[in-house]
Amino acid sequence: MAAPSYQAFDARKEIMTTTAETTRPATATKRELAEAAMRRSWFPVARIVDLDRPQTATLLGTNLVIYRAGNGTVAVQDRRCPHRGGDLSKGEVHEASIGCPYHGWEFAAADGACARIPSLADQGKIPGRAAIKTYPVELRYGHVWTVLEDPIRDMYDVERWRDLDLEWLAGPKMDSAVGVGITIENFRDVAHFPFVHKVSMGPSPEVVEPLDVTREGLDIKMERPLNASTGEWAEDGDAMMYYECSAPGLATITYDYERLGHRIVAGFPCPVDYETVVIFWGVANEVGYKGAGLDECLRVEEMVYREDLPIVDGIEPREIPWDAEVQEFSVPADMFTLNYRRSFVELMNRVKDDSHDYAAV
Ligand code: FES
Ligand SMILES: [Fe+2]
Repeated sequence: MAAPSYQAFDARKEIMTTTAETTRPATATKRELAEAAMRRSWFPVARIVDLDRPQTATLLGTNLVIYRAGNGTVAVQDRRCPHRGGDLSKGEVHEASIGCPYHGWEFAAADGACARIPSLADQGKIPGRAAIKTYPVELRYGHVWTVLEDPIRDMYDVERWRDLDLEWLAGPKMDSAVGVGITIENFRDVAHFPFVHKVSMGPSPEVVEPLDVTREGLDIKMERPLNASTGEWAEDGDAMMYYECSAPGLATITYDYERLGHRIVAGFPCPVDYETVVIFWGVANEVGYKGAGLDECLRVEEMVYREDLPIVDGIEPREIPWDAEVQEFSVPADMFTLNYRRSFVELMNRVKDDSHDYAAV
C-alpha cells in the first residue's frame, strides 16, 4: 500500500486518473464540474421551525420560496411569479397553493401549476404553461432540503444517527463569504483550535496527533478523543468525537460522552453562489442526554462558529482552488481535508461520467 501523501492536493491529477474518456465535446474546468455537482446535490434552504411564514433562499443563483401550505405540504419553488415577476415569498399561503402578492395568481404547492387567476372570468382559460418550477423536498435534521437538478447523490443519512432518538435544534443562519468546500473544511479542521478557539475551548495542544481518517466513496470519517479542557465544555468529562462528513456539503461531529450520552453538532452550508454560503447548522441531543440542554449546546456552538467566521471570511481564494490557481502546502494535520477533496472529486467524476456535456480534463 502506498504511503499517505501530504503534498498539495492535485485535483487535475485526481480526475485524470479516474477516466479514460477523451472524446466528449467540451472541456470542463474543475470549478465547472464542482458547480455542476452542487447543482445536483442536496442543500438546506430553510429551517423547519420558520415555516409558519414563507421563507426565501438563493441556491446557486436560483431564487426560491419555501413554505408550508395549509394542507401540510412543504414546497420549494421558484420565487418569481411568471405573470409579471411578483415576489411569491410576499404572498399569501392557501390550503394547497401560494398566491402572488401582486394580482393574486395562485400556484399549487404540489407541482407549481397555476391553480387560479382571480382576474379571469373563465378559470378554464388558465394558460397551461403559466407554472412555477417545483423542486424535491426532504425534511431532515431540523431543516428543509432541496436539489436543483437531477440528484447525483442520495440525500444525507448519517448511519451513526439512525438508531439514536434525537431532538434537533436549528441554529441561526449565518452568512459567510466563502464557498461550500472551504466551509466544510473549516468545520472539521482541528489544527486551528489553539489559535481560533482559545476562548470557547480553552488551551488546545498545537501538535496534531496522527489522524485516524478513513474514506469510503463520498463519506469521510475520523475518530478523536476529546479531553476535557478548561473551556466551556470542561465539566462534561471525556468523550469520543466522531467526525463524519459527506461531499459536498455535510459536516458533523457526534460526541459520545462516557457519563452523559450522545450530542451532535452539524453544519450544512447552502451555496448562495459558488463563493458565498449561508451556513445552516444545528445541534441535537439524544433523548435522555444528561449534559447541557439544547439551548445551552446551541449557545456554545454558536460561540465557536462566531470565532471561526472572521478568520474564514479572510481566506483567499474563496473556494477550494480546484484548478490549481494558487499553490497550497499540506501537512499530516490536513489528512481529513485531503480526503474530503478526494470525495468531492469523486462527485465531480460522477457528474462527468453521467453527462455528455463534459470532455475528460
Ligand atoms: S405578478 Fe404575480 S400575479 Fe401578477
Ligand atoms: Fe473552528
